[in-house]
Amino acid sequence: MSNEDNRISWDKLSDYYQAQTIISLEDVHYGPYAPSEKHLKLLDGVKGKDCLELGCGGGQISIVLAKWGAKSVTGLDISEKQLLYAQGLASRENVNIKFIRQDMENLSTTFLDESFDLIISVHAISYVEDIQKVFNESFRILRNNGQFLICILHPIQFVLWEALEEYNFEKIYSYFNESRDIWNWEDENQQKIASFGQRYRRFEELINGLINSGFLIERIVEPKGFNREQLRQSNFKELAYYDRKINEKFIRVNQIIPFSLIISCRKKKVF
Ligand SMILES: C[S@@+](CC[C@H](N)C(=O)[O-])C[C@H]1O[C@@H](n2cnc3c(N)ncnc32)[C@H](O)[C@@H]1O
Repeated sequence: MSNEDNRISWDKLSDYYQAQTIISLEDVHYGPYAPSEKHLKLLDGVKGKDCLELGCGGGQISIVLAKWGAKSVTGLDISEKQLLYAQGLASRENVNIKFIRQDMENLSTTFLDESFDLIISVHAISYVEDIQKVFNESFRILRNNGQFLICILHPIQFVLWEALEEYNFEKIYSYFNESRDIWNWEDENQQKIASFGQRYRRFEELINGLINSGFLIERIVEPKGFNREQLRQSNFKELAYYDRKINEKFIRVNQIIPFSLIISCRKKKVF
Protein backbone atom coordinates (compact mmCIF):
# COMPACT_ATOMS: atom_id res chain seq x y z
CA MET A 1 0.00 0.00 0.00
CA SER A 2 1.32 3.40 -0.99
CA ASN A 3 0.89 6.81 0.66
CA GLU A 4 -1.75 7.45 -1.98
CA ASP A 5 -3.67 4.32 -0.87
CA ASN A 6 -3.52 5.60 2.71
CA ARG A 7 -4.88 8.94 1.54
CA ILE A 8 -7.86 7.25 -0.11
CA SER A 9 -8.44 5.19 3.03
CA TRP A 10 -8.31 8.22 5.33
CA ASP A 11 -10.81 9.97 3.06
CA LYS A 12 -13.07 6.92 3.47
CA LEU A 13 -12.61 6.63 7.23
CA SER A 14 -12.69 10.30 8.21
CA ASP A 15 -16.45 10.70 8.94
CA TYR A 16 -16.56 7.52 11.02
CA TYR A 17 -13.29 8.27 12.82
CA GLN A 18 -14.29 11.80 13.81
CA ALA A 19 -17.71 10.61 14.98
CA GLN A 20 -16.32 7.75 17.08
CA THR A 21 -13.39 9.45 18.79
CA ILE A 22 -13.39 12.24 21.32
CA ILE A 23 -10.30 14.39 20.89
CA SER A 24 -9.69 17.34 23.16
CA LEU A 25 -9.77 20.89 21.85
CA GLU A 26 -8.12 22.16 25.03
CA ASP A 27 -5.15 19.79 25.42
CA VAL A 28 -2.66 17.98 23.16
CA HIS A 29 -3.22 14.24 23.24
CA TYR A 30 -0.53 11.54 23.01
CA GLY A 31 -2.76 8.51 22.43
CA PRO A 32 -5.91 6.93 23.87
CA TYR A 33 -6.71 6.67 27.62
CA ALA A 34 -3.28 8.05 28.47
CA PRO A 35 -1.60 11.15 29.88
CA SER A 36 -1.64 14.21 27.64
CA GLU A 37 0.39 17.41 27.39
CA LYS A 38 -1.24 18.83 30.53
CA HIS A 39 0.19 15.86 32.45
CA LEU A 40 3.50 15.36 30.65
CA LYS A 41 4.51 18.95 29.85
CA LEU A 42 6.70 18.10 26.89
CA LEU A 43 6.22 21.22 24.78
CA ASP A 44 8.53 24.00 25.81
CA GLY A 45 6.00 26.75 25.34
CA VAL A 46 3.93 27.49 22.29
CA LYS A 47 3.25 31.19 22.80
CA GLY A 48 4.61 33.37 20.01
CA LYS A 49 5.93 30.39 18.04
CA ASP A 50 5.46 29.34 14.44
CA CYS A 51 4.12 25.79 14.65
CA LEU A 52 3.62 23.01 12.13
CA GLU A 53 1.64 19.81 12.70
CA LEU A 54 2.45 16.93 10.35
CA GLY A 55 -0.57 14.65 9.81
CA CYS A 56 -2.97 17.00 11.59
CA GLY A 57 -6.08 14.92 10.79
CA GLY A 58 -9.18 16.65 12.16
CA GLY A 59 -7.06 19.56 13.33
CA GLN A 60 -7.64 19.18 17.07
CA ILE A 61 -3.97 19.50 18.08
CA SER A 62 -3.41 22.44 15.72
CA ILE A 63 -6.45 24.14 17.25
CA VAL A 64 -5.04 23.66 20.76
CA LEU A 65 -1.69 25.16 19.70
CA ALA A 66 -3.52 28.18 18.30
CA LYS A 67 -5.53 28.55 21.53
CA TRP A 68 -2.32 28.34 23.54
CA GLY A 69 -1.00 31.45 21.81
CA ALA A 70 1.09 30.21 18.86
CA LYS A 71 2.04 33.02 16.51
CA SER A 72 1.04 30.88 13.54
CA VAL A 73 -0.16 27.29 13.10
CA THR A 74 0.08 25.23 9.93
CA GLY A 75 -1.74 21.89 9.83
CA LEU A 76 -0.63 19.54 7.08
CA ASP A 77 -2.39 16.32 6.12
CA ILE A 78 -2.69 14.08 3.08
CA SER A 79 -6.46 13.55 3.38
CA GLU A 80 -8.87 16.10 1.97
CA LYS A 81 -11.75 14.77 4.08
CA GLN A 82 -9.76 15.08 7.30
CA LEU A 83 -8.82 18.64 6.37
CA LEU A 84 -12.40 19.57 5.56
CA TYR A 85 -13.33 18.41 9.05
CA ALA A 86 -10.36 20.35 10.47
CA GLN A 87 -11.36 23.54 8.68
CA GLY A 88 -14.92 23.33 10.01
CA LEU A 89 -13.68 22.72 13.54
CA ALA A 90 -11.16 25.57 13.41
CA SER A 91 -13.77 28.06 12.26
CA ARG A 92 -16.20 26.86 14.98
CA GLU A 93 -13.43 27.31 17.55
CA ASN A 94 -12.63 30.71 16.06
CA VAL A 95 -8.92 30.12 15.53
CA ASN A 96 -6.80 30.91 12.54
CA ILE A 97 -4.90 27.93 11.09
CA LYS A 98 -3.40 27.44 7.67
CA PHE A 99 -4.30 23.94 6.45
CA ILE A 100 -2.33 22.36 3.62
CA ARG A 101 -3.14 19.16 1.79
CA GLN A 102 0.19 17.50 1.23
CA ASP A 103 2.07 14.24 1.66
CA MET A 104 4.48 14.85 4.55
CA GLU A 105 7.13 12.96 2.62
CA ASN A 106 7.29 15.81 0.11
CA LEU A 107 8.08 18.86 2.18
CA SER A 108 11.09 19.91 0.12
CA THR A 109 9.24 22.44 -2.07
CA THR A 110 6.52 23.44 0.40
CA PHE A 111 8.44 25.28 3.09
CA LEU A 112 11.54 27.46 3.16
CA ASP A 113 14.50 26.65 5.42
CA GLU A 114 14.06 27.62 9.07
CA SER A 115 10.34 28.46 8.92
CA PHE A 116 9.14 26.94 12.23
CA ASP A 117 9.94 26.89 15.95
CA LEU A 118 7.94 23.74 16.66
CA ILE A 119 7.03 20.72 14.54
CA ILE A 120 4.75 18.15 16.12
CA SER A 121 3.37 14.91 14.73
CA VAL A 122 1.08 12.60 16.69
CA HIS A 123 0.26 9.11 15.43
CA ALA A 124 0.84 9.98 11.80
CA ILE A 125 4.52 9.44 10.88
CA SER A 126 4.32 5.63 10.72
CA TYR A 127 2.13 5.91 7.62
CA VAL A 128 5.01 7.19 5.50
CA GLU A 129 7.31 5.10 3.35
CA ASP A 130 10.52 7.08 3.87
CA ILE A 131 10.68 8.32 7.45
CA GLN A 132 14.26 9.58 7.03
CA LYS A 133 13.04 12.05 4.44
CA VAL A 134 10.52 13.43 6.94
CA PHE A 135 13.20 13.71 9.64
CA ASN A 136 15.66 15.44 7.28
CA GLU A 137 13.10 17.89 5.96
CA SER A 138 11.80 18.65 9.46
CA PHE A 139 15.36 19.48 10.50
CA ARG A 140 15.76 21.78 7.51
CA ILE A 141 12.55 23.75 8.06
CA LEU A 142 13.01 24.13 11.81
CA ARG A 143 14.79 27.19 13.15
CA ASN A 144 17.86 26.76 15.30
CA ASN A 145 16.78 25.68 18.80
CA GLY A 146 13.42 24.52 17.41
CA GLN A 147 11.63 21.51 18.91
CA PHE A 148 10.62 18.41 16.95
CA LEU A 149 8.17 16.25 18.87
CA ILE A 150 6.96 12.96 17.48
CA CYS A 151 4.50 10.55 19.03
CA ILE A 152 4.07 7.16 17.39
CA LEU A 153 2.85 3.67 18.17
CA HIS A 154 5.32 2.20 20.65
CA PRO A 155 7.41 -0.62 19.09
CA ILE A 156 6.47 -2.98 21.90
CA GLN A 157 2.82 -2.22 21.17
CA PHE A 158 2.96 -3.25 17.52
CA VAL A 159 4.80 -6.44 18.45
CA LEU A 160 2.35 -7.49 21.16
CA TRP A 161 -0.93 -5.72 20.51
CA GLU A 162 -2.85 -8.50 18.77
CA ALA A 163 -1.35 -11.23 20.95
CA LEU A 164 -2.42 -9.44 24.15
CA GLU A 165 -5.76 -8.44 22.76
CA GLU A 166 -6.64 -11.96 21.76
CA TYR A 167 -4.57 -13.87 24.34
CA ASN A 168 -2.97 -15.63 21.39
CA PHE A 169 0.82 -15.64 21.36
CA GLU A 170 0.96 -16.90 17.82
CA LYS A 171 -0.10 -13.39 16.93
CA ILE A 172 3.15 -11.78 18.00
CA TYR A 173 4.26 -9.42 15.22
CA SER A 174 7.87 -9.48 14.09
CA TYR A 175 9.96 -6.60 15.44
CA PHE A 176 12.18 -7.02 12.40
CA ASN A 177 9.47 -6.80 9.77
CA GLU A 178 10.54 -4.12 7.34
CA SER A 179 7.55 -4.18 5.08
CA ARG A 180 4.37 -2.25 5.60
CA ASP A 181 1.81 -3.87 7.84
CA ILE A 182 -1.59 -3.84 6.16
CA TRP A 183 -4.46 -3.64 8.61
CA ASN A 184 -8.17 -2.92 8.46
CA TRP A 185 -10.19 -0.39 10.38
CA GLU A 186 -13.49 -2.06 11.26
CA ASP A 187 -16.76 -0.65 12.53
CA GLU A 188 -18.57 -1.94 15.63
CA ASN A 189 -20.02 -4.82 13.57
CA GLN A 190 -16.55 -5.88 12.46
CA GLN A 191 -17.22 -4.61 8.95
CA LYS A 192 -14.15 -3.25 7.20
CA ILE A 193 -14.26 0.49 6.51
CA ALA A 194 -10.78 0.93 5.03
CA SER A 195 -7.30 -0.64 4.88
CA PHE A 196 -4.10 1.10 5.90
CA GLY A 197 -0.43 0.45 5.38
CA GLN A 198 1.93 1.35 8.19
CA ARG A 199 5.60 0.63 8.49
CA TYR A 200 6.53 0.33 12.13
CA ARG A 201 10.07 1.30 13.07
CA ARG A 202 12.45 -0.28 15.49
CA PHE A 203 13.97 1.89 18.22
CA GLU A 204 17.32 1.91 16.43
CA GLU A 205 15.75 3.18 13.21
CA LEU A 206 13.96 6.00 15.01
CA ILE A 207 16.80 7.06 17.26
CA ASN A 208 19.56 6.69 14.65
CA GLY A 209 17.35 8.32 12.02
CA LEU A 210 16.82 11.40 14.18
CA ILE A 211 20.52 11.58 15.09
CA ASN A 212 21.51 11.23 11.43
CA SER A 213 19.25 14.16 10.55
CA GLY A 214 21.16 16.28 13.06
CA PHE A 215 18.70 16.26 15.95
CA LEU A 216 19.65 16.23 19.57
CA ILE A 217 17.32 13.84 21.36
CA GLU A 218 16.27 15.48 24.62
CA ARG A 219 13.58 13.29 26.08
CA ILE A 220 11.84 9.97 25.52
CA VAL A 221 8.52 9.24 27.19
CA GLU A 222 6.60 5.95 27.33
CA PRO A 223 3.35 6.90 29.07
CA LYS A 224 1.42 4.31 31.02
CA GLY A 225 -2.31 4.45 30.32
CA PHE A 226 -4.79 5.37 33.04
CA ASN A 227 -6.37 2.43 34.82
CA ARG A 228 -10.10 1.85 35.14
CA GLU A 229 -10.24 3.37 38.63
CA GLN A 230 -8.42 6.54 37.60
CA LEU A 231 -10.74 6.85 34.62
CA ARG A 232 -13.82 6.31 36.77
CA GLN A 233 -12.69 8.91 39.30
CA SER A 234 -11.99 11.55 36.67
CA ASN A 235 -15.14 10.55 34.79
CA PHE A 236 -13.00 10.62 31.62
CA LYS A 237 -12.82 14.42 31.87
CA GLU A 238 -9.03 14.43 32.13
CA LEU A 239 -8.67 12.42 28.94
CA ALA A 240 -7.55 14.13 25.77
CA TYR A 241 -8.35 11.16 23.51
CA TYR A 242 -10.82 8.30 23.88
CA ASP A 243 -13.52 6.42 22.02
CA ARG A 244 -17.17 7.38 22.23
CA LYS A 245 -17.84 3.70 22.97
CA ILE A 246 -15.27 3.05 25.72
CA ASN A 247 -12.73 0.47 24.57
CA GLU A 248 -12.02 -1.80 27.55
CA LYS A 249 -9.38 -3.79 25.67
CA PHE A 250 -7.39 -0.65 25.05
CA ILE A 251 -7.53 0.29 28.71
CA ARG A 252 -6.38 -3.19 29.75
CA VAL A 253 -3.53 -3.45 27.24
CA ASN A 254 -2.39 0.13 28.01
CA GLN A 255 -1.79 -1.00 31.59
CA ILE A 256 0.69 -3.64 30.46
CA ILE A 257 2.53 -1.93 27.63
CA PRO A 258 2.72 1.72 26.54
CA PHE A 259 0.58 2.65 23.56
CA SER A 260 2.76 5.55 22.51
CA LEU A 261 6.42 6.36 22.23
CA ILE A 262 7.11 10.08 22.42
CA ILE A 263 10.45 11.52 21.34
CA SER A 264 11.30 15.16 21.85
CA CYS A 265 14.27 16.50 19.89
CA ARG A 266 16.01 19.79 19.35
CA LYS A 267 17.67 21.32 16.33
CA LYS A 268 21.03 22.54 17.55
CA LYS A 269 23.07 23.97 14.77
CA VAL A 270 26.81 23.70 15.10
CA PHE A 271 28.26 26.89 13.64
C1 LIG B 1 -4.49 8.72 13.32
S1 LIG B 1 -4.65 10.20 12.40
C2 LIG B 1 -3.93 11.35 13.54
C3 LIG B 1 -4.40 12.74 13.34
C4 LIG B 1 -3.91 13.76 14.38
N1 LIG B 1 -2.47 13.84 14.40
C5 LIG B 1 -4.44 13.42 15.74
O1 LIG B 1 -3.63 12.96 16.57
O2 LIG B 1 -5.62 13.59 16.00
C6 LIG B 1 -3.38 10.03 11.16
C7 LIG B 1 -3.40 11.16 10.11
O3 LIG B 1 -2.22 11.06 9.32
C8 LIG B 1 -2.56 11.44 8.01
N2 LIG B 1 -1.54 10.91 7.08
C9 LIG B 1 -1.31 9.61 6.75
N3 LIG B 1 -0.29 9.53 5.87
C10 LIG B 1 0.13 10.80 5.63
C11 LIG B 1 1.15 11.37 4.82
N4 LIG B 1 1.94 10.60 4.06
N5 LIG B 1 1.28 12.72 4.81
C12 LIG B 1 0.49 13.52 5.58
N6 LIG B 1 -0.50 13.03 6.37
C13 LIG B 1 -0.67 11.69 6.41
C14 LIG B 1 -3.94 10.85 7.79
O4 LIG B 1 -4.62 11.44 6.72
C15 LIG B 1 -4.58 11.07 9.16
O5 LIG B 1 -5.31 12.27 9.17
